[in-house]
Amino acid sequence: MSQTILVTGGAGFIGSNFVHLLRRVRPDWTIVNFDALTYAGNLENLRALERDSRHLFVRGDITDAAAVQACFEQHRPQLVVHFAAESHVDRSILGASAFVNTNVLGTQVLLDASRAAKVERFLHVSTDEVYGSLGATGLFTEETPLSANSPYSASKAGSDLLVRAAFHTHHMPVLTTRCSNNYGPYQFPEKLIPLMITNALEGKKLPVYGDGMNVRDWLYVEDHCTAILRVLEAGAPGEVYNIGGNNEMPNIEIVRRVLREIGKGESLIEYVKDRPGHDRRYAIDASKIERELGWRPQWTFEQALPLTVKWYLANRDWWQRVKSGAYQEYYRQQYQGRG
Ligand code: NAD
Ligand code: TYD
Repeated sequence: MSQTILVTGGAGFIGSNFVHLLRRVRPDWTIVNFDALTYAGNLENLRALERDSRHLFVRGDITDAAAVQACFEQHRPQLVVHFAAESHVDRSILGASAFVNTNVLGTQVLLDASRAAKVERFLHVSTDEVYGSLGATGLFTEETPLSANSPYSASKAGSDLLVRAAFHTHHMPVLTTRCSNNYGPYQFPEKLIPLMITNALEGKKLPVYGDGMNVRDWLYVEDHCTAILRVLEAGAPGEVYNIGGNNEMPNIEIVRRVLREIGKGESLIEYVKDRPGHDRRYAIDASKIERELGWRPQWTFEQALPLTVKWYLANRDWWQRVKSGAYQEYYRQQYQGRG
């Protein structure tokens, strides 16, 4: 059936990949893309859709209740997928207020507007980071208590609880996904993998925090997007679904693989002062979504890391523009005195 879907944050990394996926697999849906275009939002990610009459871009801030309400009234979406967020842990350590505003307040504004509009499904895109940090063994399940450690993850945990409350209190048809670390095209080069790829291509140092042995589970962004669509269409309201790649790796191993892929030597690696409160290990049990909804990742790291490196090689203009201007000022502040 033809649907109108409101996507928030659809000019960011995962949101723009999701919009492109929808275009391919749900061509009759109308996509309303609501995004404030912060430093992380980039309309160049959506250039291929400029003349697409079923992709409508609305510049707006999710904390602005009047703008959100006007968007609902004008477009009457039946479905909402909520990506918009401040998303980078290091930035949340430098200043948390934008995270509380967008991630907590903005999510409640969207919930209120969605309830008033009686939307059929509201999918909240969250992160495994709300579960806190693991030791050497064990996996996060959907029952793991929330134990966020960074201002970023605390603000996401806050939004998760507001979404949960909307189900229990107002019986809203909400769904929450919690995914591990993503990588792939259009990722802002402040996150580990695109930062390492672009620095290596520029012959710059690759800053590895602490001993480089912090572990993350990595998932190709396209797999995250197919999981979100599956949960949107088939998930049970009120439920949480973990999404993961079964691909745990210490940071230093990621950095070495990037260097091998690009053909540069390990002398570019530079160990720098650790991130304050740095979570040691994330690992996710994604058996619920596999068992109940039949989703599993289609890409291995061995296949998708080379594809990602190729994308950054082919799209130098994209990341060179992103790495200029405001981004450089942030980069200076973040890494000064850490070498
Ligand atoms: P991103 O930083 O690349 O993009 C965020 C987008 O949201 C940008 O387009 C930005 O302009 C927009 N935005 C920010 N504040 C806004 C506001 N107040 N109003 C409207 N739009 C606003 O983020 P991403 O990596 O694509 O992450 C998307 C979502 O997925 C986030 O909710 C994040 O918590 C979650 N997530 C990310 C990862 C990951 O590895 N990147 C993993 C799990 C979950
Ligand atoms: P990041 O991409 O910021 O994602 P998150 O903190 O949300 O997991 O970082 C991934 C891992 O890489 C994390 O353990 C921190 C580490 N890291 C570095 O070692 N150097 C860097 O310059 C960055 C940005 C991250």
